[in-house]
Amino acid sequence: MQKLDQPDLIKTPDLYLRKLKPSDAKPIYEIFNKPEILKWLLFQPAKNYNIKDQEAWIRKTLEKSKKHQSYVFGITIPPEKEIVGIISLENFNWENKNAQIGYWLSKKYWGKGIIPKAAKTIMNFAFKKLKLHRIYGAVFEENIKSQKVLEKCGFKKEGITRHATYKYNRWHNKIRYGILTNEFKK
Ligand SMILES: CC(C)(COP(=O)(O)OP(=O)(O)OC[C@H]1O[C@@H](n2cnc3c(N)ncnc32)[C@H](O)[C@@H]1OP(=O)(O)O)[C@@H](O)C(=O)NCCC(=O)NCCS
Repeated sequence: MQKLDQPDLIKTPDLYLRKLKPSDAKPIYEIFNKPEILKWLLFQPAKNYNIKDQEAWIRKTLEKSKKHQSYVFGITIPPEKEIVGIISLENFNWENKNAQIGYWLSKKYWGKGIIPKAAKTIMNFAFKKLKLHRIYGAVFEENIKSQKVLEKCGFKKEGITRHATYKYNRWHNKIRYGILTNEFKK
């Protein structure tokens, strides 16, 4: 299957999705390294996680992009240039034409429909340009906001993985969601 490179920029009237660069480390660190975000992610930074680590994370995402393993975009709201959140397609399986969606947004911008718009933009790119067949996501059972995002974007609940993750001294269930190319409405 043809593997299309990650574009540098995807523009919509309301949002831009752009490839990260190492100099994004500071703003991303400042949004990302907050309990209200980290609480819902699988990734747990070390106690002394700092801007250098964030920069290393960006470099790794750029390497993975080159290898067509995952495409991570910073979200900006034009005309502003500052990154307010992240949206990604990860774990590409090109043979079976699927990938996992991921996202997070600075708390300042919650509740304005930004991630549903960014998700639909990246889904449109994934289905129409990359010709994926399926996109899936997995959300902590307690993360109602994120479940609403996926449901607004047309994802269907596919099941629950019980005790998928051990975090904060207890087990958490994860809800699995998926959407197929013929179910996607822009
Ligand atoms: C989940 C998240 C991405 C939602 O992004 P968003 O752009 O705010 O999405 P929406 O504007 O559609 O809001 C989603 C729901 O959040 C709730 N919500 C909105 N604003 C809120 C606020 N200020 N405080 C608490 N909840 C709020 C609403 O219930 C809303 O659903 P509704 O519009 O049907 O009422 C964002 O909250 C976030 O980054 N959370 C932390 C990281 C995370 O959970 N990532 C996903 C891991 S699977």
